[in-house]
Amino acid sequence: MHEVYPIPIQLPRAGAILDAYEAATSRLDVAEFSPKPVTADVKLKVIDAARLTGSGMNYQHWKFILVQGRDRLKTLANDSTTGKWVEGANFAVIVLTNPKYGFHLIDAGRVLQTMQIAAWNFGVASRIYTGLNREAMERDFGLPKDLSPSVILGFGYPARKPLGKKNRKPITEVAYLDRFGNPLDPDKFRQQ
Ligand SMILES: Cc1cc2nc3c(=O)[nH]c(=O)nc-3n(C[C@H](O)[C@H](O)[C@H](O)COP(=O)(O)O)c2cc1C
Repeated sequence: MHEVYPIPIQLPRAGAILDAYEAATSRLDVAEFSPKPVTADVKLKVIDAARLTGSGMNYQHWKFILVQGRDRLKTLANDSTTGKWVEGANFAVIVLTNPKYGFHLIDAGRVLQTMQIAAWNFGVASRIYTGLNREAMERDFGLPKDLSPSVILGFGYPARKPLGKKNRKPITEVAYLDRFGNPLDPDKFRQQ
């Protein structure tokens, strides 16, 4: 494992509205959810945040399937290879994008992050997975042939607080200044 900063993560205060920076940096992926239901209003806000995300050429080629209810979530879990935990989510979103656009996975990444941050604003945690059985998903969720199930997100209130720690590489290991290989050192950078 690389050198990491283990950053402890707390749940947002009940009813708190996070600023955008706090929401983006405090989020942690969670795969164990509490039975507390997420309201229809919050679910709709997550889908609306997805809809409002910008896509390449503004094509908006994506479709979102909101999946809820224990039986449907269990089917989703059975159709997955790397996201069995989705069975315990309160709801899930299947993100379909059109592979005829070379940038469709960038759009998928962008929209999934928007949804995760929007949910986190209401204290709703999430995780994603990409490993799935395409044929089974077509059968069980009516997916059309021309769209790819690029990513699936599971959402719910987290089962535990605090959530855990974020393990991330330090800035000097992942960011460079002006040219590749020249580390961006935060201390030196502040002094210039
Ligand atoms: C492109 C991508 C694919 C991922 N695929 C899966 C997956 O198939 N199953 C899963 O449980 N988590 C998956 N994850 C979640 C990552 O493992 C997780 O974001 C990472 O470990 C950081 O988690 P943290 O924010 O809790 O520290 C995926 C994340 C990304 C960005």
